[in-house]
Amino acid sequence: MTSSISTEAPVTVTTDWLIVLMADAKPLSETLQQIDSALGGTISELVKSEQFSAKPQQTLCLYQRSGIAAKHVVLAGLGDAEKCDLRNVRHSLLAALRLCCEQPDQSVAVVVDDSVITRLTPETVAEVFADAIVVATVDADIYKAKRARSAFASTTLCLANSSDSVSASVNRGTAIGQSCVLVKNLVNRTANDIYPESFAAEAVKLAREVGLEVTILDEKQLAAERMGAMLAVSQGSVRPARLVKLVWDGAGNDSPKLGLVGKGVTFDSGGYSIKPSDGMISMKADMAGAASALGAIVAAARLNLPIHLTAYLGLVENMISGNAYRLGDVLTARNGTTIEVHNTDAEGRLVLADVLAYAVDDGAEQIVDLATLTGACVVALGEEITGMFAKDDELASELTAAATAAGEYFWPMPMHDHFEPLLKSSVADCKNVGPRWGGAVTAAKFLQKFVGDSRWVHLDIAGPSWSDSSTAWQDAGATASPVRTLVKWLSRKSG
Ligand code: BES
Ligand code: MN
Ligand code: ZN
Repeated sequence: MTSSISTEAPVTVTTDWLIVLMADAKPLSETLQQIDSALGGTISELVKSEQFSAKPQQTLCLYQRSGIAAKHVVLAGLGDAEKCDLRNVRHSLLAALRLCCEQPDQSVAVVVDDSVITRLTPETVAEVFADAIVVATVDADIYKAKRARSAFASTTLCLANSSDSVSASVNRGTAIGQSCVLVKNLVNRTANDIYPESFAAEAVKLAREVGLEVTILDEKQLAAERMGAMLAVSQGSVRPARLVKLVWDGAGNDSPKLGLVGKGVTFDSGGYSIKPSDGMISMKADMAGAASALGAIVAAARLNLPIHLTAYLGLVENMISGNAYRLGDVLTARNGTTIEVHNTDAEGRLVLADVLAYAVDDGAEQIVDLATLTGACVVALGEEITGMFAKDDELASELTAAATAAGEYFWPMPMHDHFEPLLKSSVADCKNVGPRWGGAVTAAKFLQKFVGDSRWVHLDIAGPSWSDSSTAWQDAGATASPVRTLVKWLSRKSG
């Protein structure tokens, strides 16, 4: 199913549902006035009587209308026209779309308040629209016999004018939405279903579909590559570790080699530093970093971006058994650094240590790692903001700008040198945890030991990659954050 643009008047578009995204502005804008008068003044009456006030994500269904070609109308609020950003549009649109796909084969048309289109540009609105169309029908009910929603039969965005750049935005939005769905479904799948081998198999399938080069390292090869830290985390599990390397080569030799490194812990029990049940229940999602890296490189291929990008996914399961790694064990990482294990639940950084060093050795010049790394980062920034740790200001500001343009939140975190001695060990080069305070920073400082002088940014996505509660626009569970930012960053890298 693909999304299209129509320049037909919204009142004459034949569709099951007409979604009207409406800002809180009086009088009604021109397009909304046309719809209002075709509906016999219903919208202005609802506004006047305060039954609909266009608050963000407020929705109201008007079933079986006459006077217009659409069967049903959904009003969805955007809030204050002056403040409405693309997040408001995305969330309101998703909230409305989710009401329209509870029956199969529905057709929808979407019209957006004129002032908002002008403020955000038709291109941005078109991208958000195409993305939302793909994402709206996908919920977290993946193991249910009867799913709550089904795909649309056809979808149309009504715009006064179309252009090549608007069509390009629709294509980009569709690819972004597809990658978001891919990430959500992978992260929502359970640890008995998605484990290192089956995750790797999914990556191979996708790589074939979109034209990525793919290499998989098994445990023997990982040992030969001296990945002693990653293998230690994995050794307690009956599921063998895998490293997946995916290459998208869409550019000439002079373009920089970009690298995405993803933490792919398919289940994090904590190991012998075992997690309490409340903390363990959502740990199937501890591979969101690897899933996001996969989603981003798949989008780069689908969009045929003229960049050179490699994704490195470190896939392990952190379990307890007679063969599991212990507290006090000393591990030797790929770059020769010895690490004393003080907490087996600080496993993500051990995986990343080896995979980051592997990416550096493999020639990656600008590296972004993605990891559900610390609860401390969620304490610091809350559930919706990605913590960004960088020694490279240029890369960090590129990512911040990309996040803003994608409607996601990134925030810079400190990397001062005085955190570094907190990782000293009396028996090895370092230990894998620092003291309680500043836990997200010491985790980042630990990673820094494995990237040499490479340009590098670490993204702690423990908060934003997962949502504990449902909203009108998405089910509780995987959110696909920060895939949209990554794709935006990669698109901008191609100029
Ligand atoms: N996967 C967790 C981090 C996490 C916590 C992700 C909550 C998502 C939600 C990570 O492996 C972990 O256990 N980190 C420890 C580090 C500590 C032992 C230094 C933590 O945050 O408690
Ligand atoms: Mn852990
Ligand atoms: Zn973890």
